[in-house]
Amino acid sequence: MRVPSLADALSAHAARLAATHLRTLFSQDVHRFERFSCQTAGLLIDWSKEKLDEEAWQALLDLAKAADLEQARDAMLTGEPINSTEGRAVLHTALRTGDGISSPKGGGWAPAAVRQEISDERDRFLAFAEQVREGAVAACDGAPFTDVVNIGIGGSDLGPAMASRALAPFCDGPNVHFIANVDGADAVDTLRSLDPARTLVLVASKTFTTLETLTNSRSVRAWLEASVGEKVGSHLAALSTNLDATTAFGIAPERVFCFWDYVGGRYSLWSAIGLALAIAIGRTRFMEMLAGAHALDVHFAQAPLDANLPVILGLIGIWRRNGMGLSAHAVIPYEERLARFPAYLQQLDMESNGKAVRRDGTPVSDRTGMLVFGEPGTNAQHSFFQLCHQGTDIVAMDVLLGRHSVGELVEGRGAEHHRNLVANALAQTRALAFGRTQSETREQMETEGASGSEVAALSAHKSFPGDRPSTTILYDQLDPATLGRLIALYEHKVFVESVLWGINAFDQWGVELGKVMAKSITPALDDPHKAGAFDASTKGLIAALSQDADIGASDGSGDRGDG
Ligand code: F6P
Repeated sequence: MRVPSLADALSAHAARLAATHLRTLFSQDVHRFERFSCQTAGLLIDWSKEKLDEEAWQALLDLAKAADLEQARDAMLTGEPINSTEGRAVLHTALRTGDGISSPKGGGWAPAAVRQEISDERDRFLAFAEQVREGAVAACDGAPFTDVVNIGIGGSDLGPAMASRALAPFCDGPNVHFIANVDGADAVDTLRSLDPARTLVLVASKTFTTLETLTNSRSVRAWLEASVGEKVGSHLAALSTNLDATTAFGIAPERVFCFWDYVGGRYSLWSAIGLALAIAIGRTRFMEMLAGAHALDVHFAQAPLDANLPVILGLIGIWRRNGMGLSAHAVIPYEERLARFPAYLQQLDMESNGKAVRRDGTPVSDRTGMLVFGEPGTNAQHSFFQLCHQGTDIVAMDVLLGRHSVGELVEGRGAEHHRNLVANALAQTRALAFGRTQSETREQMETEGASGSEVAALSAHKSFPGDRPSTTILYDQLDPATLGRLIALYEHKVFVESVLWGINAFDQWGVELGKVMAKSITPALDDPHKAGAFDASTKGLIAALSQDADIGASDGSGDRGDG
């Protein structure tokens, strides 16, 4: 049976609104901001610049109800095995409960035993973090660690790397560094300025089988051993669910901090995977981040759908993708310290919702996850915003903006920076929505003294179509609690979309094939004769890579290297 498509359900609204410019929607309703904005749980979301109206919004809410969204949400929060293809519960939200974080009374949360094991392990890794910060856990010669290196990739890297940059003003522990890429340059460049005798290395891998992390870990352990010899164990710790593998790697069990299979890699920042961050910011700040995320979880669990921030963001996503047919989603934090937030969201969103089959294995009826990308504003304005304003494709945009910034270079100078930042954020979403018509452009050029021929030649180039959707997310300031709220907001937004699409957001089979193929290609790089079974392109590239001559030294004869 064909599952009804969201695009079909939204098509009449999409057709009606296609012909209605955002200028018109705003002029028709002076209360549009009040209607399509919501301030709660420490955040304000303004989606009035999305191309939708009351009828379309009600249709989206109806789709959420028809998908039993509230039931699906409760199944996740209470630990039902909703990750059906891996037979697992999905309980990253339980990582941010307990230990003085206030939760509403009653049911609705993970089983008590789960919360207890989480709380016990959190005590262990946060105690370790504090000991590193105080110097009680020290280098093998007894001196405090000055630097901590986290080796991990994907969810075992992006979360702590993004968050330690986001919370730079709160980092008062040893300096933290991150090595992810199997390209040796990552380790070489990260370690160049570090002293192995003062460096603690955290091997972060949920599975402890990931090629990149194991390759880097072997090299970094050798780098440590060259300095501290057999005392290397006191410079190592591991964060993993695979205790057998960490032991086999030679990391003492008391230095292994674990989590569980109900925590997906891209949802693991809140677990022991956050240890590097906890060492940087300390226990109190780390707990504030968990509490911020939990506050958002409580809001997600309890707020009615039409005033529920992750539901609102998820429905905007459905509208953009299935109503408007868009495929690109830019996330622009007007906050330099959130520079890695778009990369973090890329994994969260695209690894979760980049799926083409429903939970039961049948093809999806709708287009699913969008292409997520982004850079901080204002920098992004000077690179890809040209396409966002005047390109032939429409890019949906989320703008993140703080009411205050944290810290200033010279006392009294911070306000000017922040005013300019805010003005630019507001100006960009305004320009995207309302644009500038050709007649307005002509008028403007004439006012500025342009000649008739200049106006004729340039007015089309200088006009902006507008009618391009954006949502603005405001917060007070980027502190640990706010960061926790923002991440949880997007986690649940991704989940909401997945429920409406009927897909499993918590597996990632799509990353497996390339990993398997890499294993079969490695032997052929040592012996090109083993490339026999590969396609012509792969064989040709392996042959070119194994030639002694530089690729740049081609004589231009057009030799394709296939003889
Ligand atoms: O390749 C994808 C992935 O499995 C991610 O989901 C995960 O975050 C990352 O690799 C790292 O995996 P691990 O923590 O097991 O090393």
